[in-house]
Amino acid sequence: MSHHIIEAQDLHYSYPDGTHVIKGVSFRITHGESVAIVGANGAGKSTLLLHLNGYLRPTQGTLRIGDYPLTKRNLKSVRRTVGMVFQEPDDQLFMPTVFDDVAFGPLNLGLPLTEVEERVINALETVGMPHLRDKPPYKLSGGEKRSAAIAAVLSMSPDILVMDEPTSDLDPRARRRLIELLKTFEHTKIIATHDLDMAVDICERTIVIYEGRITADGSTLELLQDETLLERSGLEKPLGMQSCPVCESNEKKVIKDGLHSTGRRR
Ligand SMILES: Nc1ncnc2c1ncn2[C@@H]1O[C@H](COP(=O)(O)OP(=O)(O)O)[C@@H](O)[C@H]1O
Ligand SMILES: [Mg+2]
Repeated sequence: MSHHIIEAQDLHYSYPDGTHVIKGVSFRITHGESVAIVGANGAGKSTLLLHLNGYLRPTQGTLRIGDYPLTKRNLKSVRRTVGMVFQEPDDQLFMPTVFDDVAFGPLNLGLPLTEVEERVINALETVGMPHLRDKPPYKLSGGEKRSAAIAAVLSMSPDILVMDEPTSDLDPRARRRLIELLKTFEHTKIIATHDLDMAVDICERTIVIYEGRITADGSTLELLQDETLLERSGLEKPLGMQSCPVCESNEKKVIKDGLHSTGRRR
């Protein structure tokens, strides 16, 4: 399944104004891997992700998607393989209705109308918003827009799913639904996120980025427990890995009360 491999070698990117954002990034992600890309604001996560389906072209280094380097000539097939959910849903939704937005990709693939409709209905059901199919996207809430943008990518049945901050704006139920959905997506997933608890939940591998460079690449559980690494990278331990402040204060209270009652206990 080499066509699902993503490999970056010494990738650099500078924006036209000269801001050097990606500074020599290399990694290889193989089929079926689920990888979190984490880092503080401005670390370069979104910029890096925008390379994965050719929205940005590296100023230096190479990127291979599957068997070929990513070039202008194979851009179309790369975009069919890599489904990208942007950080800003407004960058993705531009049609008069949610239905049209979710149908846009499958229609462009030239699929028969019945199949397009089936895919749209499935995708909207998957993200829990079939009732909003006829609404104009600009009238949706932030979380609904994000769900619509996710549906627009799912309707393309991509082999590789790339998501930039997919849980921001989602309420707890929509976030949980997305996590369950991502767990069922068997293909490669690359997710830039501040939601480190989600990373622990669905990504066995994490790449940490700091100021445009990879500072760590390995097991999510190991890396996200490494307080020195997190501190150096401007991150904080996932909530699920922190001790519970309520239990902790109760524990202290028990110890304190114990001390008062017996006068002996520590
Ligand atoms: N169009 C642009 N022109 C110049 N600099 C940009 C542009 N877009 C983003 N940047 C800069 O690139 C850096 C990385 O941004 P970004 O990739 O969005 O980081 P992250 O997603 O990790 O928060 C930031 O310092 C940001 O200001
Ligand atoms: Mg970003």
